[in-house]
Amino acid sequence: MAEVLATRQQISWLDDVDENGVIINPKHELYGKSMAGKELHFPSASGSTVGSDRLVNLAIKGHAPKKIVLERRDPITIWGAIFGNILLELEGTRPKPIDISELEKKNIQEDVRELLLKASEYLEVEKFIPVVDTQIAGVSYKTIQDSGLELREHLSEKYRVRAVGSATLNPAGMDLENWKEQKIPETFAKKQERIIKAYTKLGTIPTCTCTPYLTGMVPLPSAETFLSESSVVSFVNSALGGRTNRESGLSSLLYAIAGYGPVYGLHLSENRNPEVKITVEAELKTINDFGSLGYRIGEIVNGKIPYLTGVDRQPTVDEFKALGAAAAASGSVDLYHIKGITPEARLGTISLKGLEKELSVTEKDLMETKEKLNTAGREEVELVAFGCPHASCWEIKEIAGYLSGKGVKDGIDLWVCTARATKSLADKLGYTKIIEKAGGKVYCDTCMVVAPIEDVDYKTTATNSGKAAKYLPRFCKQGVVYDDTKTIIETVTK
Ligand code: F3S
Repeated sequence: MAEVLATRQQISWLDDVDENGVIINPKHELYGKSMAGKELHFPSASGSTVGSDRLVNLAIKGHAPKKIVLERRDPITIWGAIFGNILLELEGTRPKPIDISELEKKNIQEDVRELLLKASEYLEVEKFIPVVDTQIAGVSYKTIQDSGLELREHLSEKYRVRAVGSATLNPAGMDLENWKEQKIPETFAKKQERIIKAYTKLGTIPTCTCTPYLTGMVPLPSAETFLSESSVVSFVNSALGGRTNRESGLSSLLYAIAGYGPVYGLHLSENRNPEVKITVEAELKTINDFGSLGYRIGEIVNGKIPYLTGVDRQPTVDEFKALGAAAAASGSVDLYHIKGITPEARLGTISLKGLEKELSVTEKDLMETKEKLNTAGREEVELVAFGCPHASCWEIKEIAGYLSGKGVKDGIDLWVCTARATKSLADKLGYTKIIEKAGGKVYCDTCMVVAPIEDVDYKTTATNSGKAAKYLPRFCKQGVVYDDTKTIIETVTK
């Protein structure tokens, strides 16, 4: 099988590549790499139209790629490949599915292909599609334990990911740089580092976030994607109008390795129509209100796709992610539509004919949800944790605003969990400094659920997140205080 060389940058055949097929443009991410004999994935050629001849020339000298996988219909590369007798595959923005029988011709390792075939029987799929973007869960040592660590290390000895877009990672069990400050046990930290090393060797991007779409890694809405963290799945399907099933951490990794994934479920238009109408009869003011609404919806829709009416304003990114994360946690909602707001509902590409029943969510329902998720007293709080899903820069700004000029009470730690790229923006804008001055911390790569907070001896956690409030009691052995950001901060500061 030819080694895969993949980039999202264009290539100028005239001056990015030398006569031996080596990328010589120091600004190119493949700088110094040779494409000779490899499978080259890239979007299209840039620059001079004599690029076709340059490519033919490389082929004649034996320094051309063995195969080119092209994203756009770029005539320069297409004609160079035709005259140079180079295998060519066009992905296009919406790649064409292939029949299961064609998998054999796709240079997929035999054992990986067998796993795909086995899964295809259970999933009843017959078509596979080139994998563009994946997001891979199963990164924290707390969630995958020794067996998961050993499996990732084993896979990293044999395989590399071939997804042509991004293969990003979900949060790990600790801030990879500041785990000591987080009081993470050293034995845990060492194993977590081995997991990240194995994933990096596999070729994934260790973004360690459940909000890759806030850090420039936006899973393409125009392509079928294979994402595995439930809040990312919900956000991409609902807020962005992309297409993904809720994959397991293992399946998204396997598809990234194979370079092909099955087309089924929410990839298909006919499976994306709403089934339950929900009238929202409550005012939604805070991120926490959207989380509570999501939680309630997850509980009542029984696995069906909801269609929300009565949401009378455009939700923010943070509100979308709070709603989707909570609905996915309480009821496996992978896709929801909001009348006049979410892309498919707005463009009218879904049919409302299959709406089976009508339900409502009232102010009283939201109050009851909030009461139910509160399992501990405010005086018991030892940890305050925001950022589930990972906080955006706007959310960090809001938290910094409430903390400005205040101090977190003694005996309480305050975490804001976010992606490393988001933190660097918050650092630049001065929000991190304000939070730290008040006694809080902005941690990256992890969150309050997948970090071993129970081993750090926290017993009660306050959060504004419906999803975190769902998992903290059992998975993290925490009493929970669940409220909006402002009220929590008022409670824990002096
Ligand atoms: Fe993300 Fe952790 Fe919440 S992975 S959605 S912050 S539980």
